[in-house]
Parts: sequence; structure tokens; C-alpha cells
Amino acid sequence: MQLLIKFLAAPFAAAFLLLLMNGYFNTSMGERIIGGIKGIKLPEPDRAGSVPLETTLQKRRSVRYFQNIPLSLESAAQLLWAAQGITDRRGLRTAPSAGALYPLEIYLITGNVDGLEKGIYHYKPADHSLTLTSEGDYLLVVSRAALRQDAIQHAPAVFVIAGKQERTTVKYGERGVRYMYMESGHAAQNICLQAVALGLDSVTIGAFADRKVAEILKIEKDTEPLYIIPVGKAK
Ligand SMILES: Cc1cc2nc3c(=O)[nH]c(=O)nc-3n(C[C@H](O)[C@H](O)[C@H](O)COP(=O)(O)O)c2cc1C
Repeated sequence: MQLLIKFLAAPFAAAFLLLLMNGYFNTSMGERIIGGIKGIKLPEPDRAGSVPLETTLQKRRSVRYFQNIPLSLESAAQLLWAAQGITDRRGLRTAPSAGALYPLEIYLITGNVDGLEKGIYHYKPADHSLTLTSEGDYLLVVSRAALRQDAIQHAPAVFVIAGKQERTTVKYGERGVRYMYMESGHAAQNICLQAVALGLDSVTIGAFADRKVAEILKIEKDTEPLYIIPVGKAK
């Protein structure tokens, strides 16, 4: 009997481990279920590229009308990486940050992104992944919260840069608030230039009702939305 238990223990343990891993990883979609929250591992970003920086600077223009075509998951991932991706073993990111305190949080609202259902996602730079925070079509309500700006409603993807000033003010006092806004500009410009490098277009939107956008995104009370950036292919 003891021999039988010994004999069966290894295959049982292996099967149990596989079952656990299956719940954790769903590799076909790059999805992981972690504590009931759906996490999506994003495609690795292109860290070399082929479009010169000067070309992106020359071509960037605010665009408010987008074609009704999907954004690829690779492009969405690349834009998130451009905004706040990690570029260094110490955890440093694409955009500079005062004291490397990183007050910014990036949200992606999808309207038409390949492989992502419509909803609101939160970007996690640490493992270049997204977490679905709200399922559903949110572009119309967000555009209404932004003076009904159509660019938001009709873009395939809308990036929201939010900031938690306490992360920076804890070290720099009141001046930390200014730093957070400056950082938001860095991240926004990264998104705009990356969009051009991908053959896409964008517009940076600052006119919106802060509280309404914060409510729609269900972001924490001490975090404020700073910038809304619709991205797509110009009409
Ligand atoms: C802080 C800031 C806020 C802005 N807010 C809006 C906005 O709410 N809606 C909009 O359509 N464009 C907005 N823009 C884009 C400007 O209108 C645009 O950058 C300007 O007209 C210059 O055009 P260009 O971006 O094509 O160079 C904003 C730009 C900045 C820098």
C-alpha cells in the first residue's frame, strides 16, 4: 500500500501543479487570472524601432477624427510602454520622474483594439501587463465628461494619464505637485511621438471634468486624471 502511495504521489502532484498553472495562465490569450482579476500580459515592446525621432517630431499633429479601424494589440502595448514602460533593471522608465518616485498611472479605454474587449484597463509597468478594471463601452461617457469631444468617442483607444501627487509631495512638498504635472507632459509626449512612429495619430486633451472622469475610471480618491489622449489613424 505504501509503495502504491509513493508510486502515485508524483503524478498526482504534477497534475495538481498543472491544474494550478492552468488557472493562473491562459497562454493562448496571454491572460492570467490572479485573485479573480483578469491580467493580460502584453506583447513585448519594440525597443529599437526604425522611424527617426526627428520624423516623429516633424509629423506629430493633433488629430481629432479617426478612421473606424481597429488598433492592434501590439500598437496599444507599444504606446503603453512609451508612456511608462520600464527600460532599466533598476525599474527606471521611458519618461523621467522626479526622484524616480513615479506618481503616474496609465489607463487604457478600449473602443476597438484587437484582442481586448471593450473596457477600462490599468497598465502595470512592472510586468508590462494590463488589468481589466471595468468591462463595457466607456468612450461615449468619457467624451461627455470632456465637453463632448468627439475625438474620444471615435478613437479605437484612449489613454488616460492619472497622477497620485502624494508619491512625489512626500519628498518634495508642494513642489511635488508641479513635478507630477511636468511628468504627465513627458508621458503624453512619449505617447504622441510613439503614435507617429507607428503610423498613428493622437490629440492631447486637457479639457474635462476631473471628478467625472475619475468616477468613470473608478480611480482611487487620491489619484487625479491629468490628460486624455485618444489615438487612432487619422481620417
Ligand atoms: C495642455 C493641453 C491641453 C489641450 N487640450 C485640448 C483639448 O481639450 N481638446 C483638443 O482638441 N485639443 C487640446 N489640446 C491640443 C491643442 O489644441 C494643440 O496642441 C494645438 O492646437 C497645437 O496643434 P498641434 O498639437 O497640432 O501642434 C491641448 C494641448 C495641450 C498642450
